[in-house]
This record gives sequence, structure tokens and C-alpha cells, in this order.
Amino acid sequence: MVRPVKKLAIVLAAGLGKRMKSRLPKVLHPVCGKPMVAHVLHAVREAGCERAVVVIGRGAPEVQAALGDAAEYALQPEPLGTGHAVMQAEPLLAGEDGVTLVVCGDTPLITARTIEAMFDLHRESGAAATILTAHVNDPAGYGRVVRDAAGTVERIVEDKDCGPEERAIREINAGAYCFDTRRLFAALKNLTADNAQGEYYLTDVIGILRREGGTVAAYRTPDPDEIEGVNDRAALAKAQRLMRRRILLGHMANGVTVVDPDHTYIDADVKIGEDTVIYPGTHLKSGTVIGRDCTIGPGCDLAGTAVGDGTTVRYTVAEGAVIGNACNVGPFAYLRPGTRIGDHVRVGDFVEIKNSVIGDHSKVPHLSYVGDAAVGSRVNIGCGVITANYDGHNKFRTEIGDGAFIGSNVNLVAPVKIGRDAYVVAGSTITHDVGEGDVAIARERQVNKPGYAEKLRARALSRKNQANSQSNINR
Ligand code: UD1
Ligand code: CA
Repeated sequence: MVRPVKKLAIVLAAGLGKRMKSRLPKVLHPVCGKPMVAHVLHAVREAGCERAVVVIGRGAPEVQAALGDAAEYALQPEPLGTGHAVMQAEPLLAGEDGVTLVVCGDTPLITARTIEAMFDLHRESGAAATILTAHVNDPAGYGRVVRDAAGTVERIVEDKDCGPEERAIREINAGAYCFDTRRLFAALKNLTADNAQGEYYLTDVIGILRREGGTVAAYRTPDPDEIEGVNDRAALAKAQRLMRRRILLGHMANGVTVVDPDHTYIDADVKIGEDTVIYPGTHLKSGTVIGRDCTIGPGCDLAGTAVGDGTTVRYTVAEGAVIGNACNVGPFAYLRPGTRIGDHVRVGDFVEIKNSVIGDHSKVPHLSYVGDAAVGSRVNIGCGVITANYDGHNKFRTEIGDGAFIGSNVNLVAPVKIGRDAYVVAGSTITHDVGEGDVAIARERQVNKPGYAEKLRARALSRKNQANSQSNINR
């Protein structure tokens, strides 16, 4: 039996990314909610690479913080070129046999399937190196793949070093390579920086291996979109568009209806159950999980939010919230972090909920603020109810027992507890606890003055006439 070769990966992420004109390291720019380099790392792992070394330089601490222990790290102190970057991984990978994949951290669209195809071709061809290439209409900016008369790959020439003939070549180097690990590090020792950019080019290793008598295989991707390298913000927007489309097609294949894919934005790690319908203008951001049979949108912005099954959420902003099954949320609800909503709950228009639990079958249908509260089940919160949870310095909690009824326009001044099945009368400002089954009323008693309306009207009218004659005198 053939022993499977060990697959390793080096991800290049130490470049300056000057063309981005950004304080954020280029490879950390998010594409569909995830840093570019994290997309690359994900593909590399999925393709079966046992070790992944990310070469970091500019913004090294940020890149390392973003990826954590998903990778090993090699520091490139100065960005002297892609070949120099790979050299920095040598101390970590020196003793290794097998095949090393080198990929750029700025090609977020590369897939595990393509990487696997490269590994397969590399093994079958017995080549010293296998490069990923693509035929593109506009090769500007990319290294060109130069083949000999027999069609064998000879070398790669960087855009800035191209003569007119090379410049016309439309087969480009996608920036992903499989190398025999030992031959790679040996060949790197022969690199020079004798080129237009004064850099140590990884691409020169291809010519070196050829001169040593090795062969170079090329896997030409059927989908040139995959190798889109992001060097500036325009390319970032293009990568975003392509990734977005790919993510949406994935959800559709899983049984999700996306009503208008051109106006729906779903981050890479979002999960959505079968038969859920997503309406336009919806952004589902990182960490969001939606159940089955839901209606989401139009106009939702959900981040790190979990939604159960059979729930409808319309025109709603939610962050770090949990919404149960068979709920109806919105339009125009704002759910802030720590909101946990049970099953069969109604949260209606212009309702803000923060750091609060709402029990099953409860209703907060209109114009309320519920903050730092524990609301039981079957509670009805009337229109305009507010938990006054803040004294300018401290936050206080409100507790409302199961089955309680809070009338319209009630202020609950925390800390305060409303007992089970209690009844708080509309317009009350509640500052003391209300016992189980009690009725609380905290407002001025109403006074009626029979027939007084006419007197009041006459008085108002005479004031108006007086004011008019005064202004005539002044004129
Ligand atoms: C590189 C290739 C080019 C290919 C293109 C594909 C070289 C010399 N050229 O060009 O043939 O068509 O990718 O997208 O390899 N990096 C470092 N350290 C450095 C320089 C770069 O880690 O000193 C990293 C960058 O962070 C980036 C990657 O290497 O992730 C590629 O660098 P970049 O400057 O974007 O190379 P390109 O000019 O695009
Ligand atoms: Ca690039």
C-alpha cells in the first residue's frame, strides 16, 4: 500500500498591501464577514493540509489575533518578496517530507476542490512543482506563464518584468503552487532579487526547478473567478460579489428560497434551515443561525443572532439575540445583545429589547423599551411600556412574573418586581414591588368638571382676541 504523502501549506500574508490604502492589514479585510486569509486557511484545511504556516509581517499581531491557533506563524521581518516570505517558513517545516502548498492570503475565492485537484495532479505527474493557472481576458498585474514549443511550463514572468511578447500571454499564475517540500527549500537558496521590483520572487523557483531538470505541471482552473487576487478596493468589491453569489447558491442548494439574490447579503458562516424564505434587503451577519420554515426580511440586519423554526422577522435589527420558535418579530424591532426570546412570542413595531429574557407566549406588541428585565410567560406588555433601568450611573433589573398584565404607558422604575398574574393599570409609574395577583395603580385620580368645557373655550378665545388687538396697535 502507498503511504499517503503529508500535505503542508504555507499561506503568504506578510505583504504591505499598499494598493489597499488601509491601516488594516490587507489579508484581514473581510469578504462576506470573514477575513480574506481566513477563507484561504479554511480551504487549505478542507483540502487536507495537516500543517498550515501563515507568514506574517505587516500587522503581524493583528493577523495572529484574528486567526488564533488555526495556524502556525512565521514572521517575515521585511517584505522582500514572496520567495523571501516562503523562506521564513523553513525553520518550521525543514524536517518535513511530502508536498507543500503555497497560497496567497489575498485570494479568498480559492476552493478546497481546486487545491485537491492540484495535489492530485502533482502526485500523478510526479512533477517537482505544480502551479495553478487561469486563462483571463485581462492579465494585467499577474505573472504570465511562459510555455515552451511543446507546451511545457518554462517559467513565470512577473507583469513588471514582461517584454512585449510575454505581456500578451493570457495564461496567468494564480499564485498557488504545490512543491516537493525539500526541493522547494533547496531551490529558494538560489533566488536573487535581480528584477524590476528588487524582490525575491517565489515565481523564479519554477525556472530554477526546470533548469535543475525537474518538470512543472500546471492545473488550469475552469473557473478563473476563483483565483481573483485582491490588491485594491475595487478587487475587494469584486471578490465580495463573487463570494456572495457562491454563498447564496449554497443556501439555495440546501432548500432556502432567496427571493432576490442581488439584494441579499449573507456572511460565510451563517446557517439557514430548509424552506426558510429570505426577502431582499436582508443582511445576515457572522454567527447568525436561522431555523427552518422561517420568513426573514424584507429589511433585516441580524448579527450573531439565533432564530428558531417557523419564525417571522421583518424590518428588524438584532445583534447577539436569541429568538425562539413560531415568533413574530417586527416590523421595526431592535433587539440588542443578551435578548433571549422564548417560543410563540410577539415583538412588534418600535420595540427595543436589551439584555432581557421574554418567556413563551408573551407579547410586547408596540412602542416599548425593555432593558435588563426577566419577563415570564404569557405576559402582556401594553403599548408604550418602559423599564426605567438606569439612574445615570447604575443599571437595575425588572422582574415580571408569568401571566402578568402591564397596561399601556406604564413606567416600571427598576429595581422592581411584578408578581405572577398581577395587573398594573395603564399610565402607572411603578416604584414598589407588586405582589402576586395584586392590582397596582399609581396615577392621579381623574376629576371631571361638568359643563366646564364651554367656560374654558371662552377664556381661550378672549385671550386670543386680546393678543390680536395688541399686535394691531404695535404695527
Ligand atoms: C503574485 C505573484 C504573481 C501572481 C499573483 C497572483 C510573485 C512574485 N508574484 O503577485 O505571479 O500572478 O501573485 O495573485 O509571487 N507577500 C508576503 N511577503 C512579501 C510579499 C508578498 O508575504 O514580501 C504576500 C502578500 O501578503 C500576498 C501574497 O504574498 O498575500 C502575494 O503578494 P502580492 O504583492 O499581492 O503579489 P502580486 O503582485 O499579486
Ligand atoms: Ca496579489
